[in-house]
Amino acid sequence: MFSVKELVESNCLRSVPLNYVCLENPQDSSLYCENENVPTIDFSQLTSSNLSERSKAIQQLGDACRDWGFFMLINHGVSETLRDEVLRASQKFFDLTEEEKKEYAGGKLFDPIKYGTSFNVMVDKTHFWRDYLKCYVHPHFNAPSKPPGLSETLEEYSTKGREVIEELLKGISLSLCLEENYIHRRMKLDLGSQLLVINCYPPCPKPELVMGLPAHTDHGLLTLLMQNDLAGLHIQHNGKWIPIHPLPNSFLINTGDHMEILTNGKYKSVVHRAVTNTKGTRISVGTAHGPCLDTDVGPAPEMVSDDNPAAYRAIKYRDYMQLQQNHQLDGKSCLDRIRT
Ligand code: OGA
Ligand code: NI
Repeated sequence: MFSVKELVESNCLRSVPLNYVCLENPQDSSLYCENENVPTIDFSQLTSSNLSERSKAIQQLGDACRDWGFFMLINHGVSETLRDEVLRASQKFFDLTEEEKKEYAGGKLFDPIKYGTSFNVMVDKTHFWRDYLKCYVHPHFNAPSKPPGLSETLEEYSTKGREVIEELLKGISLSLCLEENYIHRRMKLDLGSQLLVINCYPPCPKPELVMGLPAHTDHGLLTLLMQNDLAGLHIQHNGKWIPIHPLPNSFLINTGDHMEILTNGKYKSVVHRAVTNTKGTRISVGTAHGPCLDTDVGPAPEMVSDDNPAAYRAIKYRDYMQLQQNHQLDGKSCLDRIRT
């Protein structure tokens, strides 16, 4: 049995195979905090020609990155039609036969297209209730040729996503009192890596026993995420798990490890996870926007001082991704491996 989808469809599952049973109970609501208001950023204000409106939005953006590492983005200008098309086409990809999908399976970390299950089956002790498709979509665009239309839809979506992220990074640069194009220049974003990940979490008969994706941080600068109408993302905030219920048509944005490295810890990479449900298949589409793969990244000199020495050693983005992939996701951030 290769994928979770195949497992779920092959028999009437009433429980889950032992190799999927995780130690913690992701439905343990004593660790939840339901009533915190996660920040919302209005993209139209961030790009407004009204300077006082814009600077207010930049301040909110900086606060959200510093205090949460997470926010919902509204009025971003990406059409609902395109978002729906991406979700529909993604579902159709997973609906291909296992044989068709396996054309892309068994690949390595930097293969342009990779279909797989769990996190990294070579290192996972328990399996996670998740199948995925990963495509590098920038600086070179890659996507499966099947199902028809998927590639075109993902290409348009990836371009739109980059435009949104570019604006957010301008705002973030300004919020750090750096020049607007600072992050773009320093991270060589003309050749920046953009990795599109489509997650498929089939319905699970016992969501309290399995994890969709265990606690982790993302490796890039920012991740832009959307999902179909089933919730499942939790972010960690003040030691509690906050279940995220996105506003209609919003994007979920989180900071990644490279934002934390670059800002020398001022904007922390947020820990998050995905849980499953009994009701139906949850699809989420995330794009990890990171530096150029061959760029050495360490804390920005402007963020380092005698009182605040560099907290991370510089590492190539490519090597950092490999580091994360080589270790099981154990709730600890991969950043621990590069602290000075
Ligand atoms: C990820 C991720 C969360 C989700 O793909 O890195 O955190 O809600 N996904 O699927
Ligand atoms: Ni993630």
